[in-house]
Amino acid sequence: MNKIITVTNQKGGVGKTTTAHALASGLQSRGYKILVIDLDPQSNLTYTLGIENPEYTIYELFTDEAKPEQAIKKTDQGDIIPGSLFLAGADMEFTKPGREYILKEIIEPLQEQYNYIIIDTPPALGILTTNALTASGSLIIPMGADIFSLQGLSQLQGLIENVRKYCNKNLLIEGLLITRYNGRIVLSRELKEVMEDAALKLNTKVFNSVIREGVAIREAQALQTDIFTNTPKANVTKDYNKFIDELLS
Ligand SMILES: Nc1ncnc2c1ncn2[C@@H]1O[C@H](COP(=O)(O)OP(=O)(O)O)[C@@H](O)[C@H]1O
Ligand SMILES: [Mg+2]
Repeated sequence: MNKIITVTNQKGGVGKTTTAHALASGLQSRGYKILVIDLDPQSNLTYTLGIENPEYTIYELFTDEAKPEQAIKKTDQGDIIPGSLFLAGADMEFTKPGREYILKEIIEPLQEQYNYIIIDTPPALGILTTNALTASGSLIIPMGADIFSLQGLSQLQGLIENVRKYCNKNLLIEGLLITRYNGRIVLSRELKEVMEDAALKLNTKVFNSVIREGVAIREAQALQTDIFTNTPKANVTKDYNKFIDELLS
């Protein structure tokens, strides 16, 4: 498993933020030192970690108006650099040469202090996601267990290939993670095969661990806590634990 991991997919609602959160809190509870970076202007992950109206965010780091130490917030689920609504204009605002490398430069001096750095991305393939891909060792791609989820993958693949060509030649894909899976419906062999084909095209795999749909996710989010603390025995908690084992092995 790489040290700097981005959770990405340009589709919204596929479980990116949930997966980034589970990964961060799960690794933290296993004793690792974790930094989460919330690159989504909607800042759902920031809220879930209990941070409201932070003075400094990732935006001030992008614009060089603050130092990382000023923006990092400590929580019992890991450290976080909060997201910012101001990042919504990033594609228009950050236009200078080198704009793909802003996040990489922010992260570089922080690496030594953490075992893992986890980046949550917006549902778009713009400059923010490009920054995340440029700064990362590897990617996790969450997706639904349906045929529509596969349709956007070729665009994402295009961005990954461009980032490898121009910005980060060592970028790896850890795998495709099936999330929000309805356990009552058997994952058909056909769909499994189609997903595995899609993974092969990306030169990666579909994780064996599948994340089921579960109310424990919304419950933990509403309580601004994590599933490992709140509902350690829930199916979805077991699924994320298995996924983290698989990732670490
Ligand atoms: N395994 C799951 N079980 C139940 N609800 C889930 C699960 N994963 C995500 N959700 C819910 O689905 C919605 C979208 O998930 P989210 O992680 O925010 O997706 P994304 O970041 O890709 O937009 C959220 O309201 C979240 O609570
Ligand atoms: Mg999200």
